[in-house]
Amino acid sequence: FPCNNIRNFSIIAHIDHGKSTLADRLLEMTGTINVNSKGANQQVLDKLKVERERGITGNMFYQQEERSYLLNLIDTPGHVDFSWEVSRSMAACQGALLLVDASQGVQAQSLSVFYAAKERGLRVIPVLNKIDLPAAQPERVKAQIHSIFGINPADVLHISAKTGEGISAVLQAIVERIPPPSGEITGNLKAFLFDSSYDRYRGVISLVSIQDGVLRKGDRVASCHTRKKYEITELGQVGYMACNMKQSSEAHIGDTLHRVGEVVEPLPGFQPAKAMVYAGIYPVQSNDFPKLEESIKRLVLTDRSVTVQRESSAALGQGCRLGFLGSLHMDVFRQRLEDEYDTNIVVTAPTVPYRVVYKDRTVVVSNPTDFPDVVDTPEPIAKASIIVPEEYLGEMMDLCFEHRAEDFDHRYLESSGEVSNRVMLTCTIPLSEIVTDFFDKLKSRSSGFASFDYEDAGYKQSNLVKMIFLLNNRPVDALALIVHRSAEQAIGRMWVKKLHKVIPRQLFEVPIQAVVGKKVIARETLSALRADVTAGLYGGHYERKMKHLENQKEAKRKMKRIGRVELPQEAFFDILSNR
Ligand code: GTP
Repeated sequence: FPCNNIRNFSIIAHIDHGKSTLADRLLEMTGTINVNSKGANQQVLDKLKVERERGITGNMFYQQEERSYLLNLIDTPGHVDFSWEVSRSMAACQGALLLVDASQGVQAQSLSVFYAAKERGLRVIPVLNKIDLPAAQPERVKAQIHSIFGINPADVLHISAKTGEGISAVLQAIVERIPPPSGEITGNLKAFLFDSSYDRYRGVISLVSIQDGVLRKGDRVASCHTRKKYEITELGQVGYMACNMKQSSEAHIGDTLHRVGEVVEPLPGFQPAKAMVYAGIYPVQSNDFPKLEESIKRLVLTDRSVTVQRESSAALGQGCRLGFLGSLHMDVFRQRLEDEYDTNIVVTAPTVPYRVVYKDRTVVVSNPTDFPDVVDTPEPIAKASIIVPEEYLGEMMDLCFEHRAEDFDHRYLESSGEVSNRVMLTCTIPLSEIVTDFFDKLKSRSSGFASFDYEDAGYKQSNLVKMIFLLNNRPVDALALIVHRSAEQAIGRMWVKKLHKVIPRQLFEVPIQAVVGKKVIARETLSALRADVTAGLYGGHYERKMKHLENQKEAKRKMKRIGRVELPQEAFFDILSNR
């Protein structure tokens, strides 16, 4: 296909503004949704799609005045945690459709994806979607787009991805406004690896964007990153390729592949994905660990942004510490893991990566157990932006303030004298405050109107403490938490109450304490239980008695001993799953 007739683009949008619906419509309108449906191509694409459970990558042919174009749609996820993946996919595009819901207006992720596209030098085509809705306010949203992005209202397309209205103008704009990929077709091969997945039968499937030269089946290529050599066994549209790569880790995102024997300057790569949230994952039954680890490994092959390390806990046994891009990413992964593994798992409270500064070194700590007792240490912070109708501004500021936010600023997104102006509130906020239930609170306290986005903003000095919990004076490592000094009382009391509720009573009294340093912050006491399991089984019925003791032994195996306290593993599931 002549390079001049190729367009590489993505659709970028705030969640629910209609990305998938528009993608489907484009593929359908060009009648090429199944171009290669008989071949493996479609299967690979379907698989990529299903496995990642996010969006669409596809290619289509579009005819305009005797000229035939190949349009490559490259998927970008539209969620708050996936900004890294968005910019990664953008590296393979020259343009993007910025989709904005005409009834909702510009939302928090509309801004972040727009700036990410601009930063990458992409041509942005503004598209107003859902104009069929009675609540659509195209003129007003166009004014917003103009005031926020400086986009000329005359350049904004009006569509309904649902009814198909305006879609042909979108196709036309793609070929007219987005430039074809540049590069030297006769030059040395340079292929930019921007995504990968794993196929059980064919090994690693990489998505590559050819910057220079030509890539053919049978070619021998090498990685600039690892220097390893491969032979291309399969090629498909939208730049997927298979070669004799066995391990997922060999497909380094941001790598440049070149022809064996040629020398090229590697393309600027990517910072590796940065884990923002960590959690320990354990089986409910300790001896199920091999099965759990196997399931985790299988899933990680399809999601390269998750980091995995083995760890063990005195209370929970063998487990893994996983790192995620954000809490939503963690929830998605957890859900997929529960499906794959098909049993309950214990997930510890999420932790952000703290930096602990010792005299001679700085250590990033992702497990509270490894934290020193009390430290003045830097904690990761985020720059948050919230877009909300102005009547909720005060409520949103209160919410952020309760979560230790600082550096507040706000600006009106519309300059007209409308009744309900939209405001963008920005602030800095500790990452640990937004990885729990912040998003839910934000939604409920704004009646669902607020949209939220955040980006990494480095570290800031903070007053943090490590809180541990004692059962009958023995620490339970899996429950340790890092909290801000100002919240230690409230958090300590809350957890102790919760433990009191879920821990079964023992034959003796059990104190439950929350401790910071040497100080007890909160305490509850579990009163003693008097019981004799064989008491009710009177007289000579030996067999029945034996059976009962046998059952009890079986139950014991599933019990966890913390000092003299016996806890069923399920108690941890109860404690940790209803955070
Ligand atoms: P994520 O993949 O979750 O980011 O969402 P998305 O941006 O892909 O949105 P999706 O295409 O799933 O659309 C969200 C909702 O809006 C769905 O219920 C669609 O049916 C609806 N929708 C999309 N386009 C239109 C449109 O033009 N008009 C109307 N009325 N509804 C639409």
